[in-house]
Amino acid sequence: MVSTLDGAAQHDGRSQPISGATDMRIFGTLRGLADVVVVGAETVRQEGYRPARAREAFAARREAAGQGPAPAVAVVSASLDLDFSLPLFTSPLVPTLLLTGAAAAPDRVAAAEQAGARVVIAGEGMTVDPARAVRALAGLGHTRLLTEGGPRLLGQFVAAGVLDELCLTVSPLLTAGDAQRIAGGPSVAVPGRFELVSLLEEEGFLFSRYRRR
Ligand SMILES: NC(=O)c1ccc[n+]([C@@H]2O[C@H](COP(=O)([O-])OP(=O)(O)OC[C@H]3O[C@@H](n4cnc5c(N)ncnc54)[C@H](OP(=O)(O)O)[C@@H]3O)[C@@H](O)[C@H]2O)c1
Repeated sequence: MVSTLDGAAQHDGRSQPISGATDMRIFGTLRGLADVVVVGAETVRQEGYRPARAREAFAARREAAGQGPAPAVAVVSASLDLDFSLPLFTSPLVPTLLLTGAAAAPDRVAAAEQAGARVVIAGEGMTVDPARAVRALAGLGHTRLLTEGGPRLLGQFVAAGVLDELCLTVSPLLTAGDAQRIAGGPSVAVPGRFELVSLLEEEGFLFSRYRRR
């Protein structure tokens, strides 16, 4: 996740204006290591998500770890109100996953599957239970999960206690306004404690990695 100095997780509805070249390099590296990229449907819609690419620099490492050429993207959605004609669904290197609830609209499930996506039920009713999503992905052999947000999805992963690590870029910008923070939704009863594992700096950007204690 990337945040400005005053805690904004987006500007003009996107994260790109508050990111930078090195942040994007770290973003790509984290993808290069992951089995699956878990992302909320609103981020997919607003950021125009495309399938993850296979990258030469990670090819040997991924093969040795028994991973596919690129991480699968797992979109979390209750409505399944997504454009299934996009390359994310029709032409990924590895099939895109859709995490949804058991009561998801059957016609939207059919449309997703017809486009080539794999629908994974991870909750009762319409919504996905984060702990069940983690278990369902593990059941498919995916244990290195990279959650790319957005804030509404990340907040639920935090509240459910399934976030082990946070890679946070702090960009040297102030935006004011009413942008979301990196994690939203209801607050947790007791704040979760994380420890700093690494901290890098470049051109005023701080690149941190925290691990749950
Ligand atoms: N700073 C950063 O690092 C960063 C990272 C990512 C995104 N962003 C920014 O964050 C904004 C979007 O984030 P957001 O928080 O509004 O949305 P989001 O978390 O990306 O997506 C929210 C949507 O995800 C689905 N969803 C979330 N929790 C669910 C659950 N438990 N069960 C089923 N579906 C669930 C729902 O989709 P349906 O509506 O389809 O049901 C919901 O509307 C954009 O502006 C983006 O640029 C910033």
